[in-house]
Amino acid sequence: KTFRKYLIAGNWKMNKTGSEGSDLINEINIALGKQTDVGVAVCPPFTALESCAKALEDSNVQLGAQNMHPKSEGAYTGEVSPVMLRDLFCTFVVLGHSERREYFKESDAFINEKVLAALDSSLKPILCVGETLEQREANETFAVVKEQLVGGLKGVTADAADNLVIAYEPVWAIGTGKTATPEMAQEVHKMIRDELSSLLGAGAAAKIRILYGGSMKPENASSLMDQPDIDGGLIGGAALKAKSFVELVEIAS
Ligand code: G3P
Repeated sequence: KTFRKYLIAGNWKMNKTGSEGSDLINEINIALGKQTDVGVAVCPPFTALESCAKALEDSNVQLGAQNMHPKSEGAYTGEVSPVMLRDLFCTFVVLGHSERREYFKESDAFINEKVLAALDSSLKPILCVGETLEQREANETFAVVKEQLVGGLKGVTADAADNLVIAYEPVWAIGTGKTATPEMAQEVHKMIRDELSSLLGAGAAAKIRILYGGSMKPENASSLMDQPDIDGGLIGGAALKAKSFVELVEIAS
C-alpha cells in the first residue's frame, strides 16, 4: 500500500457555477498550499471546468470531469468529448457513476467505450462500480461488482495501471449518510483487487488505486482509509465545502 499514493477526489455532481467553483478552489488552495503527500482532484460540472482550471493554475490539485462521450467529435448533441476535456486541462474523468447508470441507463459496454477512449486520450478514468441495496440484500454484491469491472475494463491492458482508478460506491451509501463499515468496504475492495489481478496481472493490480465513495466524511474517513485496499475517497457532499474536503485530505496525509 505504501507505494500507492492516496487520492482524494471531489465529485461535485450538479453543483456549483463557474464562480462558485473557483471560490471553493481558492479556499482549498489556501488551506492545502503545495502539499504533495496525497493526490487531490476536484470534478466540477462541465460548465465550471474552465474557470476551475484557471483557479488551479498554480495548484497541485488536479481537475477532473464527471462524464464524457467516447467519440472525439461529431453529431452527438449535448455531449462533451475527451479532446474537449484535455483542452480544459482535465487529468481525470469519472465514468460509470451509479447516477449515470441509473438515470441515464448507461451500460457496461458504453462505459467500457468511454474507459478506452479516456485512456487513449491520456485522461485517467475513475471507473465507478457498486451494488444497490436490493442486490446487497440478495447477496449479489460480488457478482454485480465483478460484472461491472469485467465489462468496464474489457480491452484494458496492464500498462494502463498507473492511469486507472477504480471507485467502489455502494449505491445505498451515496448521499444517504449510511456508510459501509470499514470491514464491509474492505471485503469488496479486496475482491476488486483480486479481480484486477486476474484481469491485468498482480503487478498492475497492486498499483491501481481503489477509492471508496458513499457518505465519506471526516468522521468516518480514517477508519475506512486504514483498510489495506482502500486508497482514498471519491467524495460527494463533503467535497462541496472547503473545510470538510481539506480535512479529508489531511486525514489521508
Ligand atoms: O461520487 C461520490 C459519491 O457518489 C458519494 O456521494 O454525497 O455520499 O459522498 P456522497
